[in-house]
Amino acid sequence: MVTLTDEEKAMRDGAEGDAVAAAMDLLIRYADALGADVLCETRNVAGTTTQPSPAKTKLMEEGGWAKAYAVINLDCDDDLEIPDVKVPTCQLQHGFGEDARGVMPYPERNIDLQADAESFASSRGINILATCTPYQVGNLPTYGEHVAWMESSAVVYANAVLGARTNCEGGASTGAASLTGRIPCWGNHRVENRYGTHLVESSLRMDGFQDWGMFGYFVGDVVQEARPVMTGDLGPADLADLKHFGAAAASSGGVEMYHLPGRTPDAPTVEAAFGGGRIPEPISYGAAERRAVYESLNSIGESEDVDFVLIGCPHASLDQIGRVARALEGRRLSESCELWVMTPRALRTVADRNGWTATIQRAGARVLTDSCPAMSRVAPEGTRVFATDSAKQAHYLPAILGIEAWFGTLEECVDAAVTGRWRGGLAPAEVVR
Ligand code: F3S
Repeated sequence: MVTLTDEEKAMRDGAEGDAVAAAMDLLIRYADALGADVLCETRNVAGTTTQPSPAKTKLMEEGGWAKAYAVINLDCDDDLEIPDVKVPTCQLQHGFGEDARGVMPYPERNIDLQADAESFASSRGINILATCTPYQVGNLPTYGEHVAWMESSAVVYANAVLGARTNCEGGASTGAASLTGRIPCWGNHRVENRYGTHLVESSLRMDGFQDWGMFGYFVGDVVQEARPVMTGDLGPADLADLKHFGAAAASSGGVEMYHLPGRTPDAPTVEAAFGGGRIPEPISYGAAERRAVYESLNSIGESEDVDFVLIGCPHASLDQIGRVARALEGRRLSESCELWVMTPRALRTVADRNGWTATIQRAGARVLTDSCPAMSRVAPEGTRVFATDSAKQAHYLPAILGIEAWFGTLEECVDAAVTGRWRGGLAPAEVVR
């Protein structure tokens, strides 16, 4: 049974109102189911309340957004007054918004409903960041901070790269956390559950985020939900590289935590990554493994006629948007192909100011925010074959939409959008030992 502090007991007993009491009730049930003996205090929640769904719409029509929040985000059927969030809370990615109106086969009604839900959520203090990459737009937890985040690619980035502590939460637990500032203290919140379990030794140097994505895809497939430790002369890694590495590892497996000794903050050394315990025999990653990942990600591409190119899964950084703009400068998309760049709203504003959005639009492509094809289950009308620079999107979208996929570099994807043809191929890797 979870042990509560006096403040938590008071919340449970209604001292802060019925909604907070319902939130504590949910957290107590959740903690007991997990076997957590205490709750962590948190001041950073990343969840979702605004994404439209048939169930949410029905609840909203019955009792407004408060009813939808009570049922979906607090697992409570009572009519509750939803107060302001108690701790800083942001909305992650959700459905497509205003900038998608009329440009894709996505229900206009969902855009309207989401805008209405945003008004409700923001009136309660939720920050509508509308992205799967809150860490790119100002939500940067500190080292060791307990946070309550959803979204597998964001969770693995928070744990491994930032050294924050979170499990992969859900809509209800983050809804309850936002009203109480608490989350069950188990799993990745506890130091003993963060040490490495597998050693993966690379003989290859990574060359950009495509390579990091393939490496992550390999690692996730091999370790599944465990905690890999990667060694080797991997070369530099920037935000986009580790964003793609983690997102891919969380897609082919369920990786929520990893270590790159000397680079990620929980692991100054290999020994520290394993908590001073036994270091397991290494799993090798070399040219053959890299090629196998590449072939697997390209195994459902048959037709070389590409109708749709997607860049920005996880949502594109400014650097990635700039690369797309430079690759499209003075070019025009094929009549038969669309190109969407997905990015957070806040970065879109900067890209507009830099002139990158205008360059991308002049070429006939689009910069879109808030969502992505996998999340909203939508692609341009008639899409049969798509191309992407994201291992995660190549993993999910073919199954979700029943389309073919090509996976390659950002520049190969832009080239496909301009020519309407896939001409990608795997560049040789740099072997460093
Ligand atoms: Fe983000 Fe969609 Fe990819 S939510 S991580 S762009 S699948």
